[in-house]
Amino acid sequence: MNHWVLADEVVSEYERLYKHVPWVYRAPGRINLLGEHTDYNLGYVLPASIDKAAYLAIGASHDQLCHITSLDYHQTVSFSAEEVKRAEANHWVNYILGVVDQFYKDGLVVAPFRAVLKADVPIGGGLSSSAALESVVAFALNDMNQFRYARHELAKLAQKAENEFIGVRCGIMDMFTSLHGNPHAAIRLDCRDLSYRYVPLELGDYQLVLFDTGVKHALASSDFNKRRAECEEVVCLLQSDEKELHALRDVTIDQLEANRSILPETLFRRARYVIEENDRVEKACAYLENGDLAKFGQLMYICHQGLQNDYEVSCAELDYLVEAVMSFSYVLGARMMGGGFGGNTLNLIHHSAMDDVFQTIAPQYEGRFGQPLKMMVVKLAEGAGLIK
Ligand code: GLA
Repeated sequence: MNHWVLADEVVSEYERLYKHVPWVYRAPGRINLLGEHTDYNLGYVLPASIDKAAYLAIGASHDQLCHITSLDYHQTVSFSAEEVKRAEANHWVNYILGVVDQFYKDGLVVAPFRAVLKADVPIGGGLSSSAALESVVAFALNDMNQFRYARHELAKLAQKAENEFIGVRCGIMDMFTSLHGNPHAAIRLDCRDLSYRYVPLELGDYQLVLFDTGVKHALASSDFNKRRAECEEVVCLLQSDEKELHALRDVTIDQLEANRSILPETLFRRARYVIEENDRVEKACAYLENGDLAKFGQLMYICHQGLQNDYEVSCAELDYLVEAVMSFSYVLGARMMGGGFGGNTLNLIHHSAMDDVFQTIAPQYEGRFGQPLKMMVVKLAEGAGLIK
């Protein structure tokens, strides 16, 4: 239902401003079931697209300039597609400019457009609000200009926009998911060759539930880049020993153990987490395909411990929430989700116990951290597309 409400809002505003009927596109945010911080190590991930998305009403502009209005920020920005300049840091329009800039770098000039944008993906919550924005713009401009990029090529273009224009050295998981999402399945993606398959999510009486710490991770991009640099350092240090190494994906746990003495302790832990997490994704797919939700849930807890202790991208609020649900037998698993340092935990909870769990932990959480806890039940939804 939200789907149509937001689509109608961008259309009405577009028609009010420009007296024309626009095209309307949508691209979703995502959750990630397992495979955290493995994408930029060219490993495996298991994300799914959700029913929170960015909506774009768009049509041709007749004055050589592009004009884009954000209904969330109540702002309109105009620019030339042939001469894209970065706006100040953290400005929403950079996510759009970055995509236009990448088409330009590919030798393509985007025809001037005017557009109205609105999104309901919570910002800074680990649900990929920025990838939703980049993906909806990339998808729409590709379609309108008939550039003929395939979806995975659009994902790569949007990732480059984020890496080069925004300066966050993220992997490809978020954009790929936004562009390939399936309303009934998670995507088991190999981030090296982008081969993927859909893993049906049949959760029976269980639901995927998000608990929002209220801690925004907006300042975490430098920490994020630091983690990526640490992983690259491990690959460099192991290189002399192993010639064929290009990414942590290529390192086995035995190789890592054998080289323990030449690695600083922190780097050893970072790499151990990534190697084990890749392995967990494979197990998770098998458990989900066999309907073994309890075993899958155990992997979520183990993943969280790795992110907390070895990879060190969690925070006190996330750790508290994961620990708080462990004692409920109706909760099969929980973990922090996304880049970390705040945002949401993802929980697998029996539908009959969801409210009880929330009512029990919310006051305790608020008492401890002075923030109200928010709960959201996740619904999967399809990937990017033209909706009208
Ligand atoms: C962020 C990045 C992704 C991925 C996750 C961690 O969402 O954008 O590429 O690295 O963090 O798994």
